[in-house]
Amino acid sequence: MDRDSRPGYKVAGIDRRNFLKGTGAVVAASTLGTAGGKVVAQNEPKVFTKNLVSSDPGKIVLRVNGDEHELTLEPRVTLLEALRIDLGLTGTKEVEETTAAGADTVLINGKPVLANSRLAIECEGMEITTIEGIAADDSIVVGLMQHDAVLCGYCTPGFVMALKGLFNVNPTPGPAEIDSALGGNLCRCGAYANVRASAIELARRGGEN
Ligand code: FES
Repeated sequence: MDRDSRPGYKVAGIDRRNFLKGTGAVVAASTLGTAGGKVVAQNEPKVFTKNLVSSDPGKIVLRVNGDEHELTLEPRVTLLEALRIDLGLTGTKEVEETTAAGADTVLINGKPVLANSRLAIECEGMEITTIEGIAADDSIVVGLMQHDAVLCGYCTPGFVMALKGLFNVNPTPGPAEIDSALGGNLCRCGAYANVRASAIELARRGGEN
């Protein structure tokens, strides 16, 4: 889907960017009040001259699954949008434009991060790994398959990346650590017990197939 045609990016025909510009005018206007019929300034408007980020598109380089991609993106673009829309890496899932389900989990510098919670420009210079960067015979993927933990499969990329982040730092996690690592991932098919069993089995073997 084209980014600007997504729900939430248009407000009564005005795109989000121009809407925000408009609200800036309202904020400026709200600093004015009246006294005896005369308009007076209530607060000095703040003028920011440093650390401003332009809303115009700019070039950034994202390193994803070992490859560098030069993209021209507006600062508002999330990492999830850049991956799915600009790079066509649709294995990282979006759930109702929120990060609550964990299906958008990727690794940034080896740690699990929700891609919808980061702007793409924040991730320049970092090593991003998506489900497309995980081999089909990866021990976590194989374990999920063996334990019948992939039903519709929509949540699976998020679970794989969350487990990857855990096993990256601890190849023998205990059940409580597994539960904590998977706490932000939802599965609408209810495969939690199977996912958990696959992780416990993998931990028992030290993270190896
Ligand atoms: S397997 Fe369907 S949402 Fe988890």
